[in-house]
Amino acid sequence: MLSVTLRVARFTPKPERPGRRRGGSPFGSKSPFGGDGSESRSNRVRGKRWSQDYTVLAHADDSVLDCLLAVKRDQDPSLAFRYSCGHGMCGSDAVAINGTPTLLCTAKVRDWARPDSPEYANEDGFRPTGEPLDSSEHAIDLDALAPDTPLVIELAALPGFPTRRDLIADIDPMLDQIRRLKPYLEAKNELKTTAEGKVNVFEYLQHPDELARYELLSNCIACGVCEGSCPVYAGGEAFVGPAAMIMSSRFLNDSRDAAFQARLTALMGPDGSAACQSVRACSMHCPKGIDVGEELWQTIQKVDAAKAQLQ
Ligand code: SF4
Ligand code: FES
Repeated sequence: MLSVTLRVARFTPKPERPGRRRGGSPFGSKSPFGGDGSESRSNRVRGKRWSQDYTVLAHADDSVLDCLLAVKRDQDPSLAFRYSCGHGMCGSDAVAINGTPTLLCTAKVRDWARPDSPEYANEDGFRPTGEPLDSSEHAIDLDALAPDTPLVIELAALPGFPTRRDLIADIDPMLDQIRRLKPYLEAKNELKTTAEGKVNVFEYLQHPDELARYELLSNCIACGVCEGSCPVYAGGEAFVGPAAMIMSSRFLNDSRDAAFQARLTALMGPDGSAACQSVRACSMHCPKGIDVGEELWQTIQKVDAAKAQLQ
């Protein structure tokens, strides 16, 4: 067993005074993805912030979520974090681990625990990019350390979103943007029925090549990891964000969808595809293995071609 300290960036919000709004994006308050700006949220929620250490005994193959559950059960029931499925399917438990956006339930202690010493600190304070998810090459060799070496894992709420409490980020801005880009099929065919009154499923047949164009994108679980990694996305007022664009790309690539032009038009505003700076940090940690930056680039080209046709 390893002794691991979870260093948690905790936060308790203060109730907002009625009629008073603070903060907000320095970018335009009127956004095609943010309505008239009245619904926009501040990323600077007022409240008490502090760092709290919890030490647990864990196996190297335990997940960071396992460690947090042990803390919640045995040490501090007030610690707040969110999870549901526990195995990388629901996307509800995205946080920053050692500064890197990822899921609590798929993050193993062996990949994220670091000796608690300045030698292993990330000196510039920025998350490392370019490392593959769960890379054993990036992980410290825990077996090579002295058995009593203190280990630490730093946890904070997902960046880019307002924090609701402790490790829970308010991902409503992302969900609003996904909804505005209509994440559902607008089918070309009328829903046909057979002579017996049953739905004629053959109306929706696709060639495997057509399915392959969007199948991976349909695995997106809206976890927000790509948005937390994106240096442009900051609460969504300046940029609709990679997750919403991936949802839109999924239907742009679907041969059955009849809303191709409307979807491109929806991305033509200043907060749409034009706001993407192609940094591609969004591709680094997608738990579903989507090359988010490349997919966004493909969509940007489609939007640019549609814009050129309109001129
Ligand atoms: S594209 Fe990947 S990282 Fe982004 S929301 Fe979807 S699953 Fe999460
Ligand atoms: S708890 Fe569902 S993805 Fe982690």
